[in-house]
Amino acid sequence: MCGIVGYVGGQSALDVVVTGLKRLEYRGYDSAGVAVLSDGGIAAAKKAGKLVNLEKELVDRPLPGGSVGIGHTRWATHGGPTDANAHPHLDNAGRVAVVHNGIIENFAALREELVERGHTLLSETDTETVAHLLAEEFSSVGDLAEAMRLVCRRLDGAFTLVAVHADQPDVVVGARRNSPLVVGVGEGENFLASDVSAFIAHTRSAIELGQDQVVELTRDGVTVTDFDGGPADVRAYHVDWDASAAEKGGYASFMLKEIAEQPKAVADTLLGRIDAAGRLTLDELRIPATVLREADKVVVVACGTAFHAGLIAKYAIEHWTRIPCEVELASEFRYRDPILNRRTLVIAISQSGETMDTLMALRHAREQGAKVLAVCNTNGSTIPRESDAVLYTHAGPEVAVASTKAFLTQLVACYLLALYLGQVRGTQWGDEINAVVRDLARIGDDVERVLETMEPVRALARTLADKDTVLFLGRHVGHPVALEGALKLKELAYMHAEGFAAGELKHGPIALIEEGLPVVVVVPSPRGRSVLHDKIVSNIQEIRARGARTIVIAEEGDEAVVPYADHLVRIPATPTLLQPLVATVPLQVFACELATARGNEVDQPRNLAKSVTVE
Ligand code: F6R
Repeated sequence: MCGIVGYVGGQSALDVVVTGLKRLEYRGYDSAGVAVLSDGGIAAAKKAGKLVNLEKELVDRPLPGGSVGIGHTRWATHGGPTDANAHPHLDNAGRVAVVHNGIIENFAALREELVERGHTLLSETDTETVAHLLAEEFSSVGDLAEAMRLVCRRLDGAFTLVAVHADQPDVVVGARRNSPLVVGVGEGENFLASDVSAFIAHTRSAIELGQDQVVELTRDGVTVTDFDGGPADVRAYHVDWDASAAEKGGYASFMLKEIAEQPKAVADTLLGRIDAAGRLTLDELRIPATVLREADKVVVVACGTAFHAGLIAKYAIEHWTRIPCEVELASEFRYRDPILNRRTLVIAISQSGETMDTLMALRHAREQGAKVLAVCNTNGSTIPRESDAVLYTHAGPEVAVASTKAFLTQLVACYLLALYLGQVRGTQWGDEINAVVRDLARIGDDVERVLETMEPVRALARTLADKDTVLFLGRHVGHPVALEGALKLKELAYMHAEGFAAGELKHGPIALIEEGLPVVVVVPSPRGRSVLHDKIVSNIQEIRARGARTIVIAEEGDEAVVPYADHLVRIPATPTLLQPLVATVPLQVFACELATARGNEVDQPRNLAKSVTVE
């Protein structure tokens, strides 16, 4: 939520910052702005709307050159998406410029104080107060990093701040509390950004900042302290992907690219976690086996798509480990006084590793003594850093706002985790684990096959562009898949979409069925749990009898569904628990195509941002 870039070095700061903002635009696109230190002052430009509006503004009214600058792309919280509310914000003298991600909770009181002291604030944002406070502190201490430390100590809430001051023109200063900020270390140049994609074209050396830290960048130096000016612990790391991973690579959208990357993402997430004998080797987990053996409850916390991965994980965890597993929306979790103790294992699933609701849930869990294990896609992000252990997914950077490849890799990680718990606790025999692991190792190819057969799904989606509603039904692990299909359609196509447990239909939702209503049904395998399969075939008949247009996702060879499917989408036969890995893919393609047919921009759906760093 909000993307931030800072640069100091030998290149044109404007070029570096604007290019960085392009990479971060997925974080918010309500407005964009830049500030460059030039000719003893600050030159700034900002514009409501997408980054392209700012770029036009910079063509119409070019800024002078400079080699120190900051930039911002906004997801609006305080104040609407207007030019005035766009960042950077400056003090009245125009000597300080600041960009911000997060929410400063005590800004109203600070603003009042500033007004009493004669400041004029021009926007409705919380950020502008920081620019004025920094100006005041700088005038007494004469050092931007020290001014930042003094200001940060007065701020409540979550924030990443990056600032420049015209009187210290070789320096960019950043600060972070509960919001992401990473340093990129170059040669004769240094970078600050909300994530590494903003500077990956220049350097792959990064420093992960900790909580409540202030960083001062010059061309040749990076100095990090805590908010009191004391020494700070930081972790340097090498980014293991390059700039091409964050490019569209010939695809029309990042979402299409990321859907196509799923076979590789799944394979990469399995890589190195299975030894030659087929045993799971999750040595990276820092939680001792004794703790895992003693756990008497698992609680999964996550949001949105990651929550759906958690719902599927529950089936696997309970089936393979026989430990009760609850799955909870992170935003609800800590507000209902959940029962947790030292024997509770909490799994926090998050692609970004920065989702504030999930972060708050895991902090709450740790305060109660629970052990927290993160399943995360972003190296060095806050959620894994604050967890007791982490299992990284290896999806590579996910840029499109709607999560696709991260979801599949979250499922893989959760399956591995469930099997590992089964291995450690002795609830699964080695050969049982090996059999599932072999199935998992094959599944990337199955996903590939699904992707190769998606043209009819795209054609069907285009015919539904004028519909108002699509319903999704599923049973067992197909239920969370239905929820995920509905979420994708809502967020991308802006259509009314609902996912239901098919068995619940007759308890109410069947009243929604009317002539021609498209209903997508995710059908479990007819092998194994055939009772479930038979029941859902009955459900399909029930809705079809009432006029629904049925879009049936069923495995190859399932002939029982054929008479009742207006449209049949085939997926490879997979073991029931693993079916979401193949069944979700057509739903992603369906939503992406339908949204495109409705003229929507799939990478940047309205009102959304990729990384939700506010509660
Ligand atoms: C939907 C989507 C969101 C995220 C949710 C959690 O396509 O992307 O629902 O899944 O905001 O984000 P992370 O996984 O970063 O915690």
